[in-house]
Amino acid sequence: MGNIARHIAIIMDGNGRWAQERGLKRVKGHEKGAETVRFITTFASNHPEIEVLTLYAFSTENWKRPKMEIDFLMRLLSRYLKNETKTYKKYQIRFETIGDLSRFSPSLQKQIAAIKDETKNFNRLTQVLALNYGSQDEISRAAEALCKERKKISVETLGKRLESSRFGPVDILIRTGGDQRLSNFLLWQSAYAELFFSPILWPDFSPEDLETIISEFKRRTRRFGGI
Ligand code: FPP
Repeated sequence: MGNIARHIAIIMDGNGRWAQERGLKRVKGHEKGAETVRFITTFASNHPEIEVLTLYAFSTENWKRPKMEIDFLMRLLSRYLKNETKTYKKYQIRFETIGDLSRFSPSLQKQIAAIKDETKNFNRLTQVLALNYGSQDEISRAAEALCKERKKISVETLGKRLESSRFGPVDILIRTGGDQRLSNFLLWQSAYAELFFSPILWPDFSPEDLETIISEFKRRTRRFGGI
């Protein structure tokens, strides 16, 4: 039976390089990357074990990119959500987010809230988009809230306060695109995650690649600090 792949989290890296390799503008890579998001999400919704798929769509550091690329990513996200509402319904996918949405435009915030509401009772899969998300920001905001309330800070109290704790610990953390770093993604929830670094650029990442990773995950021994 082996390990259960309940929660999979992915750092979707390599869109820019995928486009540059083809002599295309970087944003074309993000467009293709959005299609991969759809393929991987529908695959996950049909997988018997996967309950949560968390995708790093926009980090707290991504605001450093050129304004034109940021604007494109915002429009792409809005278009994706509009087009994919039918996919969420067809595959019974609940849509959720982590991250501070207050920096997004009021219309995007409204759209996000509406889709969360429309899909809240679906339970085949929860797709969590990390939007303006950073783990250090998440952890410090939770600690600040506890301090303000003069509450004790412990692994338990702090852990419970984290926005991402609603979705539970990560079993498999994947980064595509060849780099081997965590880039401030789900640091707390990945304390005992199995890490996978794939050289494949995100637009080329396929459900078969995910299946191969899950098979390898099943063969690994997870000790959670025990022996
Ligand atoms: C990293 O590639 C990717 C991002 C910063 C954004 C992720 C966005 C998508 C996958 C598409 C939109 C998502 C949704 C949910 C509609 P990079 O630009 O850092 O690539 P590079 O390392 O090759 O430059």
